[in-house]
Amino acid sequence: MVNFNDQDFFSSKCVWVNGPVIVGAGPSGLAVGACLKEQGIPCVILEKSDCIASLWQKKTYDRLKLHLPKQFCQLPKFPFPQHYPEYPTKKQFIEYLESYARKFNINPRFNECVKFAKYDESCKLWKVKTISPNGSEVEYICQWLVVATGENAEKVVPNIEGLKEFGGEVIHACDYKCGEKFFGKKVLVVGCGNSGMEVSLDLCNHNAQPSIACRSSVHVLPREIFGTSTFELAMFMMKWLPLWLVDKIILILTWFILGNIEKYGLKRPSIGPLELKNTQGKTPVLDIGALEKIRSRKINVVPGIKKFSCGTVELVNGEKLEIDSVVLATGYCSNVPYWLQESEFFSNNGFPKAPFPNSWKGQSGLYAVGFTRRGLAGASADAIRIAQDIGKVYKQDLKQTKQKFPTHRGCIYTS
Ligand SMILES: Cc1cc2nc3c(=O)[nH]c(=O)nc-3n(C[C@H](O)[C@H](O)[C@H](O)COP(=O)(O)OP(=O)(O)OC[C@H]3O[C@@H](n4cnc5c(N)ncnc54)[C@H](O)[C@@H]3O)c2cc1C
Ligand SMILES: NC(=O)c1ccc[n+]([C@@H]2O[C@H](COP(=O)([O-])OP(=O)(O)OC[C@H]3O[C@@H](n4cnc5c(N)ncnc54)[C@H](OP(=O)(O)O)[C@@H]3O)[C@@H](O)[C@H]2O)c1
Repeated sequence: MVNFNDQDFFSSKCVWVNGPVIVGAGPSGLAVGACLKEQGIPCVILEKSDCIASLWQKKTYDRLKLHLPKQFCQLPKFPFPQHYPEYPTKKQFIEYLESYARKFNINPRFNECVKFAKYDESCKLWKVKTISPNGSEVEYICQWLVVATGENAEKVVPNIEGLKEFGGEVIHACDYKCGEKFFGKKVLVVGCGNSGMEVSLDLCNHNAQPSIACRSSVHVLPREIFGTSTFELAMFMMKWLPLWLVDKIILILTWFILGNIEKYGLKRPSIGPLELKNTQGKTPVLDIGALEKIRSRKINVVPGIKKFSCGTVELVNGEKLEIDSVVLATGYCSNVPYWLQESEFFSNNGFPKAPFPNSWKGQSGLYAVGFTRRGLAGASADAIRIAQDIGKVYKQDLKQTKQKFPTHRGCIYTS
């Protein structure tokens, strides 16, 4: 007999899910959904936005392309179309994801933002509460909870002194679409990750005058070495060589191709690019043209920011720049701590505590997909493991759970 302690447990609409609840309909959530469908396991995907892959559809700039070759970015069981280029555009990637959802008949519940999820020890089930833009709430009850809300769920907006008094336009990179409207303007791009570099390049291509603020260090690598993707080359070498040696080889080759980037104000980290990615999750920049603009001084590299004042930014070296607009390319963070009431598996930064490859499975039917800082390839590998794991117990548990959970008035059942 199920004993729900909360008095208000059935006060909102209550849905019993015969299978896992997946939170997030980005590439990770879709991949898990597809792998489950292949085994005949039903699931419910909850998505706060009104479309699949909202990060790609709503929060990315127009010129974006995948920065790894397509074979490293495809989701399980459905390759990219053959006619796609080596590095698909954002539009092509979204079309691919839409056909992926169609192929596996995945129909997420849109406009349902998960605001609360907790494991109920007494009934050994997860309770997942969502809220819609119109304020209506639904409570889902399930045996498995798959967290697929992404490493980049929320923008990071730093609290920089004087930014409120700056007066000009200030946007985050997630709201930047194209450099057209910045024609002729002096724009400060804060942050020199892949977003900062590509936004600066785009601004430059639209005849704006970008400066890019790099407060610490960054690994800039060519996207390709001798015609092969740098990522692919690194993966190939890692089959035989230790990581530190692969890092050294990549850096030597990079030096031959890009030269010494430090003379342009881009300080290299003391740790190699792959080790830095593995230990701190910091992604190297794969250069697709920004460095050439930096060399020719069309993009101005500046150090960290001290403070803003009306129309001006003061840098840590004391220099002052007059600027019209600011683009904060200051990154993203996970939103898991805001809604998941759990502290064993996830740490308070919203990432699983266990390092790769043990970061996909928690206790009591909890899973995480897409949190390995290994991009789409990492998400696909997680999705396959998670679906297999759930599949192993699904059929026997289903029978038991149905017996445990009698039909309740006011509770909707999904098949
Ligand atoms: C500009 C940019 C470019 C990138 N390019 C690449 C690339 O080329 N290659 C690569 O491998 N990776 C790239 N990445 C990393 C990117 O995060 C992954 O490729 C991919 O989007 C991860 O998929 P995901 O499903 O895990 O997360 P997301 O794509 O972020 O999807 C998560 C989904 O969960 C939803 N969601 C969040 N919170 C809730 C909630 N509380 N309730 C309900 N729904 C919720 C979101 O609306 C979203 O639709 C890029 C990231 C950025 C920001
Ligand atoms: N084409 C592509 O495929 C593509 C394009 C864009 C992004 N991406 C991916 O998307 C993810 C996010 O990339 P991102 O570039 O948006 O974020 P990011 O890699 O986290 O970089 C954020 C940058 O902002 C800087 N920063 C943060 N706070 C700051 C502050 N207060 N003052 C000054 N600088 C500050 C950081 O500096 P510190 O290093 O000093 O913290 C860093 O340089 C990455 O995985 C990336 O690879 C991919």
